[in-house]
Amino acid sequence: MAEFNLKEAVAARLGENYELHEQYINPTLVKVFRTIGFDKVYAKAQGQYLWDQDGHRYLDMLSGFGVFGIGRNHPQVAQVIRDVLDLDLPNMIQMDCAFLAGLLAEKLIQITPPHLEAVFFCNSGTEAVEASLKFARAATGRERFAYLDHGWHGLTMGSLSIMGNDEFREGFGDEMLPGVMIPYGDLDALDRALAKKDVAAFVVECIQGKGVRVPANDFLPKAQEICRKHGTLFVCDEVQTGYGRTGKLFAFEHWNLEPDIISTSKALSGGYVPVGAMITRRWIYQKVFNRMDRCWVHSSSFGRNNLGMAVGLATLHILEEENLIERSAVQGQKLMDAVNALKTKHEVLMEARGKGCMIGIEFHEPKSLKLKMAWKMIHAAHDGLFAQMVVMPLLQKHRVLTQVSGNHGDIIRLLPALVITDEDIAYFIRALDDVLTDCHKLPGPMWDLGANLVKAALRNKDEKQPEPEAVVAG
Ligand SMILES: Cc1ncc(COP(=O)(O)O)c(C=O)c1O
Repeated sequence: MAEFNLKEAVAARLGENYELHEQYINPTLVKVFRTIGFDKVYAKAQGQYLWDQDGHRYLDMLSGFGVFGIGRNHPQVAQVIRDVLDLDLPNMIQMDCAFLAGLLAEKLIQITPPHLEAVFFCNSGTEAVEASLKFARAATGRERFAYLDHGWHGLTMGSLSIMGNDEFREGFGDEMLPGVMIPYGDLDALDRALAKKDVAAFVVECIQGKGVRVPANDFLPKAQEICRKHGTLFVCDEVQTGYGRTGKLFAFEHWNLEPDIISTSKALSGGYVPVGAMITRRWIYQKVFNRMDRCWVHSSSFGRNNLGMAVGLATLHILEEENLIERSAVQGQKLMDAVNALKTKHEVLMEARGKGCMIGIEFHEPKSLKLKMAWKMIHAAHDGLFAQMVVMPLLQKHRVLTQVSGNHGDIIRLLPALVITDEDIAYFIRALDDVLTDCHKLPGPMWDLGANLVKAALRNKDEKQPEPEAVVAG
């Protein structure tokens, strides 16, 4: 019997990616990628770089929506995976207590503040959020949830219920978990919403992924205070912001918060094996597993699996050894400063903002007449198209991978690997400068591109297909 040979499959068929997906997976997404010219075939990855089949190098400023904090294909994580395989360790016996899960839980508790004492392992960000919701209900005996507009917590039904972007709920039914959306930054609305004392948890991203919104300095501490006053649990969704992304181990540390629950995932995976971890107070945990017959009342077959646990341990080690959390703060600040220095040159550039290596670049309406008119025309067609006009040449002309942040608005998001170098930053800035210089040429290639995008959007509307700027997940 012939063995399955992965290397042969890659050598023979890499390049068929889009045809395979078109036929067997999601043809709509293929169409979007083709429309915006993102239908690349990447063949190799290392650190903050990707290479296509022709050997061209790309600077990856998204790191898989924040999964590759330590960079892609880190050799130490790869070695740890080999070690797990070499050891022939028993895995997912279920009717035992798995050793590596114990080690990773111990490490997570050591590095989080003392009030966080217990870990629940799962396999993704949305599962970590789902766990937060269930644990919060069990702990408080309350049904409802509060969340922020533009919040993003994942796409399974519980997480979807606390989604602050309505378009993601469309088509998935009217009945969600009961909850209330709080206008961003509105502490009075939060106070009113919690006053009935029927809200189990208020779930927030300390820095929102969509639009990379950083709250006013007093918002989160006051929100936590309001939660305490009304007996609502304060839950920080650290799925994207966790593990060094914002220049602290967790984003809640920027405001010295004391969340009752944090949900984490993404970068803990080392970019190799899906893993999620919800970390909470012991008393909250024990409200779920409160009797022997309820010892499995929340669980998942693959939670605590050896590979997930091993990559988590390796990732935390690398974050410390390579000083990546501090590096995230320093390099992120350099990147933001360098983008903001371009403001005097490019009137469409409003600002770069964020913390550490979680950065949003926002554009605004230019003042000069011709550009203003072109801007208005593009926005009349769709208010997310301008950012797409920046993202596309960044990839096509400069081989820099970025993303439009959110379906509406003029923001692109950068989530580079924390290993990003000064040379990478200089390269990105030259690319952005060039693209924005093109933007000031009217007529010019960028506005032609905009007109083409408008046409594609209109065509897609006729066909009831999603618009090209719809590639905003994560
Ligand atoms: C803040 C936040 N929460 C939850 C999730 C969902 O994570 P996953 O895609 O692993 O389900 C994401 C994903 O981007 C996220 O950014």
